[in-house]
Amino acid sequence: MSFQRLRGFKDIYGSEADECARVEALARKVFGAFGFKEIRTPVLETRDLFRRALGSDTDVVQKEMYEFEDRSKEHIAMRPEGTAGVVRAYLENNFDKTEGLSKFFYTGSMFRSERPQAGRLRQFHQIGVEQLGTSSPYADAETIQCLVLFLDTCGAHDFEIKLNNLGTFEERKVFKETLKNYFKPREKELCDDCKSRLERNVFRILDCKSELCRRIIIKSPPIHDFLNDESKNHYRQVCEGLAGTGIRFKEDPYMIRGLDYYTKTVFEISHPKLGAQDALAAGGRYDSLIESFGGAPAGAVGFAIGVERLLMCLPEAGNEKTAGENTFFVATLGETAFKEGFRLLSQLRAAGMKVLMDFSARSLKGQLRFADKEKCRYVIILGDDEIKKNSFILKDMKNSAQKEIALSGALEALKKEEKEHA
Ligand code: HAM
Repeated sequence: MSFQRLRGFKDIYGSEADECARVEALARKVFGAFGFKEIRTPVLETRDLFRRALGSDTDVVQKEMYEFEDRSKEHIAMRPEGTAGVVRAYLENNFDKTEGLSKFFYTGSMFRSERPQAGRLRQFHQIGVEQLGTSSPYADAETIQCLVLFLDTCGAHDFEIKLNNLGTFEERKVFKETLKNYFKPREKELCDDCKSRLERNVFRILDCKSELCRRIIIKSPPIHDFLNDESKNHYRQVCEGLAGTGIRFKEDPYMIRGLDYYTKTVFEISHPKLGAQDALAAGGRYDSLIESFGGAPAGAVGFAIGVERLLMCLPEAGNEKTAGENTFFVATLGETAFKEGFRLLSQLRAAGMKVLMDFSARSLKGQLRFADKEKCRYVIILGDDEIKKNSFILKDMKNSAQKEIALSGALEALKKEEKEHA
């Protein structure tokens, strides 16, 4: 019997696993400098948490969530995104009362049962941040700056930022009526999904990706005309804050994003290496979510980046970076040398050095070939002659130079070598 991965699920290994670790480490560094602290929330949550947060009419909730009844008949969902769980944790752990402003970052697997294609998986990884307990437009600008700095640090240049202002749920009531009046006479031209959205949640039509619907959407009344001064001022200050940091963005009055919790600022980052519809990262403000989970009214803003998509946007050279490169390789000839080599290997590793050794009794030539494949810079060669002299040969794989070093001073000599060629 043989088994295969599920469709849309992926094994990550080799240079891709190294790259994942590298971008996660960079996220810790960049987000840490902005004052974000790590949070790890469960992969499973109650189904209603996501229904309430993301909206029952969204594609994620309607078509993509992995849901099941557990053994005690509770309705469970595998998290399709990170924000809802973070807000739940913020309230459940009383951060709203003890901390006020909380700044979290997270990394982890998310699950959406979408049609798999390049850059679209059923299990994917997100790196995200959430600021909870702030209504300041400067928090929006800071969040976007943090995202931009992180992408630049990773090497994903040439991305484009789109920005829009969705106002509050209250302001959208009138807007939705106007949208209904606009789309109703054009109902026949809409896709089947949008026909049903017209009655259920007309706002969702604006997120439709179908070519035909988009042509109608871009002539619909823009949301800005329905916003009050407070929302408009907030947006103006976000734009000013971004301009102050030199970040360029494009305003898109028809961008609404696929989740219902957004209020006021929304943004999306696209990259030319991804398909036209696939965003590299997205986020925005969600000022009503904390309250809708039972907390006191408080503003919040955040974003999430798709890790698999991020890796697709990095330059080739970055992908080839040998993050796991080893410095030394211990090659031995004969049983006594093997035992001495194994002892040296353990000693060097205990001192924190990167060392490999092959235990399959290959020829010296075979061991050197293996060392080359594993990108080892130096090979420590130990044979009977060397053992007799209490020494070993150090071969530099880059220029083939070699020298003899006494076994007694091995650690210091190799450390010096490592430092000189770091
Ligand atoms: P989202 O736009 O649904 O937002 O997803 C964020 C990012 O996750 C996308 O831009 C994309 O890179 C990645 N992504 C989404 N679905 C897939 C998939 N099926 N395969 C691969 N990558 C995918 C959120 O999830 C919000 N929680 C972001 C947020 C945080 N808003 C406020 N705070």
